[in-house]
This record gives sequence, C-alpha cells and structure tokens, in this order.
Amino acid sequence: MARGKLEGYEFWKWIGAPRYVLAPMVDGSDVSYRMLCRRYGVTLCYTPMIVASSFLWDSAYREEVFGTAEEDKPLFAQICGDDVEAMVKVAKTIEKSCDAVDVNFGCPQKYAKRAHYGAYLQDEWDLIRKIVSTLHSCLEVPVTAKFRKQFSTDRTVGLARLLEESGAQVICMHGRTRKQKGAKTGEADWEEIRIAREAVHVPFIANGSIRSLEDAEECLRITKADAVMSGEGLRRCPALFYSPSSLSDIDSSFSSSSCWSVGKPFSEASNGHTRGIGYALEYLDLCGKYCTPLDVVKEHVHRMLLSDLTTPAATFKSFDTKRGRRHWAKGKEEEKTRSLLETHWDVREKMMDAHSVEEVRDLMGMLKGRVLTDTPPPPRPARHEPQAEEEDGLDGSILFGEEEASCSNEGAEDELFSGDY
Ligand SMILES: Cc1cc2nc3c(=O)[nH]c(=O)nc-3n(C[C@H](O)[C@H](O)[C@H](O)COP(=O)(O)O)c2cc1C
Repeated sequence: MARGKLEGYEFWKWIGAPRYVLAPMVDGSDVSYRMLCRRYGVTLCYTPMIVASSFLWDSAYREEVFGTAEEDKPLFAQICGDDVEAMVKVAKTIEKSCDAVDVNFGCPQKYAKRAHYGAYLQDEWDLIRKIVSTLHSCLEVPVTAKFRKQFSTDRTVGLARLLEESGAQVICMHGRTRKQKGAKTGEADWEEIRIAREAVHVPFIANGSIRSLEDAEECLRITKADAVMSGEGLRRCPALFYSPSSLSDIDSSFSSSSCWSVGKPFSEASNGHTRGIGYALEYLDLCGKYCTPLDVVKEHVHRMLLSDLTTPAATFKSFDTKRGRRHWAKGKEEEKTRSLLETHWDVREKMMDAHSVEEVRDLMGMLKGRVLTDTPPPPRPARHEPQAEEEDGLDGSILFGEEEASCSNEGAEDELFSGDY
C-alpha cells in the first residue's frame, strides 16, 4: 500500500474524518445503496458482513457478497468468523478494495450462535485478541472492530479496551446488548457508549437508535463519539443525514435529473410520497450501474416507501438526558408507518412478481404518476366466500368488499419483505 499503514486518528483524518456512517447490513448495505447514501451526506460506508468460511469455500457466495467500485470510498469491509487463518485469507483477498477491514463482534443472530461468530465471541477474550492482533499484523490496511453493549458496564469498557490494545484502529459500538433483538430491541444506550468511548483513544463510532439528523447530533453530543452510524434509519431514508453543507460537492447533473427529491431536506420536504419514490428511482438507476441482487433491490424499495409516512423525530415521547436514552412512544410509529404499497396494492403485487430492476423501475414510474396526479389505485377484486354468505345471509360484496379485503392484507407486508435484524 503506497500510503503506508496509518493508525488511529492519522488514518481517520486520511479518510476524511467521517461523521455520518452507513451500518454494515446483510442485504442492506449493498454497493448501490451505499452510493445512494453517499450522495445524501453519508461519509463512510461498511459492506455487509462477509462470513469468512463461506467466502473461502462457496464461489457463488463470494461473487455475491462483496462488490465495490472505484468511487465507493471510504469503505470498511466487514468480516466475521472464529477461524483466524481463514479470516486472514479473506481479509488479504479484499484489502486492496477497501480502506479498512472490520471484524464483526456484534451479530446476535441464531446463525451466528450456531457458527460461533459475532456477539457469541464476546466472552472469549483470548480469541478476540488473537483475531484482531493477527489481522493487525498481517494486513496492509488498518483493522477495525464493531461490538455491542455488554451485560455490565465493566465488561463493555473492558472489551473496548481489549479491542484497542489488540490493534483495532477504529471502534464502533452498538448501544444494545446481544439480547436486545426482535421484540426486545428497545432503544440504544448512548450513555454506555459514552463511557466506553472515554475509555479508549482511537476514533469511535456510536451506533443505535438514530432516526433523524437531530438524533445524530444529539447522539454525538452525548456519546462524544467521532461519528454516528445508522442502520434501520438509513434503510428507510437514505437522506437521513442530509444537510446542505454535506451535499456541497454533489454531482449537479444528478441533482437536476431528480429534482423532485434532491434538494429537499428530509424534515422539510413538502410531499413525503414523491420524496420516497424519488429515492427509490435514484436507487434503481444505481442498481442498473452496480450489480445488485433483485431481492435486495425490492426490499430497499419497500423500505424507502415506508419512510414516506414516518416522521422519525416525532415518534419519541421524551428524552432522558441524564441517562442518554429516549422513551419510545409505542404505537405511534405503527400508526404512521404505512407504505404506499399498502394503498397501491396492485403495484405491490406486481413488484413481488417483477423479474428485473427495469420492471421495478417501470412500476415506480407508474406509482409516481399516480401520486403526482392524485390517482387512486384500482379497487381490489372482491373475494367470493360462499360459506360466510350462506351462514350470515349477508351480501358478499359488503362482507368481502374493498375495506374488508384491505384489512385482511395488513401485516402481510412485513412477512413478504422481512429483514429485521
Ligand atoms: C437488515 C440488517 C442487517 C444487518 N447486518 C449486519 C451486519 O452484516 N453486520 C453488523 O455488524 N451488523 C449488522 N446489522 C446491525 C446494524 O449494523 C446496526 O448495528 C443495527 O441495525 C443498529 O443500528 P440502528 O439502530 O441504526 O438500526 C444489521 C442490521 C439490519 C437491520
């Protein structure tokens, strides 16, 4: 590597002292989405995690999991595993195409438990030390690490220090424990992030519960981290970190070709519907340029349309400044998070069946036309349920008319586009 191996803040400055970070996400931080987020103020991206053993032995996985481009910078490529030798081999293969290799010590999923990696290594400090220190000495690029809040503050601080001592040049901390997932996700603990941050000297990224630019600034203030990372928030709105100053070098031809979404801050945009479709169309253009799996494309489009009716900053009841936690106003988000695809059920069904990015793009074009002209979707076809008709003696069109059919579809959305971590 021509620039030599930079460390800590020297390295951080070299990659532009990033402030806003797109989280590593399986099926969520693909190269096309990374490029979209970069246009809107993200200054550092992570790849989805690369499972070292699969990367070495499965050529189809290898092809699919790691794609990048010259302009996809700065980029941290994330790996996971428990076999140091395999991890070094993978890291050596990809290090020329990224700025740092990150190790995932935070994945809480069942498959991580089975395969013994991610957050299931968090109590094996000797193994963690070996993984990080070996990568640190073998790689030409810096090694970085992402971990979670532990089950006690002492353990959180101890693990942060261990990562630094082993050679991690940047540390990212997700402020939720391994158990905080699914229905128990809850809010990230920014105060615990601050305590860990103050225990080490390398650049530090705070992660968890960022749903608006205001959240990001508040999180930076409380945690004293160098940067803030978002996963779910950016999946819903790629312009989460938008601010006029962060877009100063935006490509002007791009701005004019998508004027109905670019140039409007997320919180000020007047028409949430057009904004979400606008992001989706921009993303689909990028998917034409960078190879992106179709199921990942559909999932992103779905998420961006969800962002339409969500006002992230308004979903919190109160903020506990002392403890650095917000209190979630339960139910409020569900109320507001309604995808356009729930209303435009026919577009949704066609999107499920779409076989190419072009087909999805045509559907978004159609949806844009409808929204701009205030055209409602076609009525849902009535369903025939003879038993109910006979039993209740009611007219089937009342029982299974439009309203009834639309209610019965509720909840199907998340099953079809599942992806919650
Ligand atoms: C769909 C999805 C996939 C994820 N994949 C990864 C991953 O590959 N590696 C990782 O370290 N974390 C992964 N995460 C966790 C995120 O990086 C992040 O830590 C988490 O979503 C908390 O941030 P948030 O509150 O902003 O969403 C994933 C999260 C989601 C939602």
